Amino acid sequence: MSTSRIALVTGAASGIGAAIATRLAADGAAVALLARRRDRLEKVAGQIAEAGGTALVVPADVTSEESVVEAAALVQDRLGDLDLLVNNAGVMQLVPFADGPADAWRRTVDVNLNGVVNVTHAFLPALRRSASTRTTDLINVSSLAGQRINAAMSAYGASKAAVSHLTRTLRAELSAEGIRVTDVQPGLIDGTELAADLPAEVQTMVDGLRTDLPAVPVREVAELIAYVVTRPRWVNLPSLVIQPTKEA
Ligand SMILES: NC(=O)c1ccc[n+]([C@@H]2O[C@H](COP(=O)([O-])OP(=O)(O)OC[C@H]3O[C@@H](n4cnc5c(N)ncnc54)[C@H](OP(=O)(O)O)[C@@H]3O)[C@@H](O)[C@H]2O)c1
Repeated sequence: MSTSRIALVTGAASGIGAAIATRLAADGAAVALLARRRDRLEKVAGQIAEAGGTALVVPADVTSEESVVEAAALVQDRLGDLDLLVNNAGVMQLVPFADGPADAWRRTVDVNLNGVVNVTHAFLPALRRSASTRTTDLINVSSLAGQRINAAMSAYGASKAAVSHLTRTLRAELSAEGIRVTDVQPGLIDGTELAADLPAEVQTMVDGLRTDLPAVPVREVAELIAYVVTRPRWVNLPSLVIQPTKEA
């Protein structure tokens, strides 16, 4: 189905975000691509443009309120009022609570939770204006890890549990204005760089899991988002889990 949405996807430089942005653009959305690495955003934007789509590169850091406010001004100027926001940027560090470095905790919460807060605050005025006349979505990519108990995943799990809770709360706050709010909780997904910063032995373990399960390819998450945003305006899918069939 072809859409004329105006979208912003955070974490669009790689993995799930790049796949979602590419899929939305293929459906006709004008898509703003936000992440820190300009060169990687330009690569994704180039692929979208080659396929005939419209993409705007928005280099920004979701942990910086100032950077996100500047990003919102650029998107407003170039694309107008956003009607589809996908908060997807995230990081994963596996550190024990007791003996791990405190700054790993702060960094995880800063990107995964405060990043969602910063970006949502910055784009909410535009979403509200859009919702008065057209279909408007706010989608947060959280994680199944927010529902699971895993040693060494306290920071990541807590940040994602908080994102899921914030998302449910935002739905309670914004649904009456016509903004659809969706919490997406992926399980193990393949085709991303999320494990890139993990120690080599943990990466090998994750790679093994991805092959054995097998993990869900990023394009399936993108398909799910494309489905969510093309429902009739009065239909909201508040919470979705997508995971490998063999993942417990
Ligand atoms: N892969 C999985 O199995 C899985 C499972 C459940 C949930 N998730 C969630 O899915 C989301 C996407 O992750 P992914 O798996 O696709 O990993 P990924 O390939 O590493 O993508 C993460 C994206 O976030 C961006 N990012 C990181 N820090 C940022 C910051 N401070 N400001 C702006 N952008 C930032 C990165 O780009 P830059 O480095 O250029 O900024 C990158 O584009 C995350 O929220 C993750 O927690 C993933």
